[in-house]
Amino acid sequence: MAALRPKSNTELAIMRQGGAMLGELFTKIKAMIAPGITPKELDAFAYDFIIKHNSKPSFKGYKVGGGVKYPATICASVNEVVIHGIPGKVPLKDGDIIGIDIGLCFRGYHVDSAETYAVGKISPAARKLIDTTEAAFFAGMKALHGGVHLGDMSHAIQTTVEREGYSVVRQFAGHGIGSHLHEDPQVSNYGKPGHGPVLAAGVTIAVEPMVNMGHHEVIMLDDDWTIVTDDGSLSSHYEHTVAVTDDGYELLTNR
Ligand code: MF3
Ligand code: CO
Repeated sequence: MAALRPKSNTELAIMRQGGAMLGELFTKIKAMIAPGITPKELDAFAYDFIIKHNSKPSFKGYKVGGGVKYPATICASVNEVVIHGIPGKVPLKDGDIIGIDIGLCFRGYHVDSAETYAVGKISPAARKLIDTTEAAFFAGMKALHGGVHLGDMSHAIQTTVEREGYSVVRQFAGHGIGSHLHEDPQVSNYGKPGHGPVLAAGVTIAVEPMVNMGHHEVIMLDDDWTIVTDDGSLSSHYEHTVAVTDDGYELLTNR
């Protein structure tokens, strides 16, 4: 796996196009989320959208080591599900929160993004968890520029989360992204300033804070995919595919 090679302008242009499509898909999914719809229906919509746009779902068929293939286009993680929730037939209900995570591959390049949405009316506590997760992502972005140590960004994410009394999931991380869904470096959501690899302009990473209302520990369910909080607390997820630039960053999956 090519380590931290900056993408060429041609590669970035392709990822920008794929990212714009993924952003459009998120806007449509967001509008569909309401009490009564099932994650399976959202998954079917996402699959059709991606295929119609001459792309492929990045997650469907993906496996880690000798594990079970991921069976769907999207991950739909409801309430205490942190990540990798398999879309099922249980309708969403008023007050739920749902993390939607989608990756697509366009002309050989992956883009990956996630966002947590309210279903109907949610509690102020759940709203604050979602808002803090997004704020942590953007605090990380503020730290980015060509030549930065990855640890500077990770630290900014961690401090934004912990200031509110929440915790950052440590067992999973973001990742480099390009012709592979998962490339180097591993992008942790906690770390020390001045540590970690240096990111040159043109490096593309998927930054994805996962934030628990309670403790940071998570467990995997028997389906070999679904990750839930160990203490049953709510969890929120937010992710964009990002290119590092000389003086900052570019969101490739913006909406
Ligand atoms: N955004 C997640 C990741 O990058 C989603 C992966 S789901 C999988 O790891 F099925 F592809 F693993
Ligand atoms: Co990702």
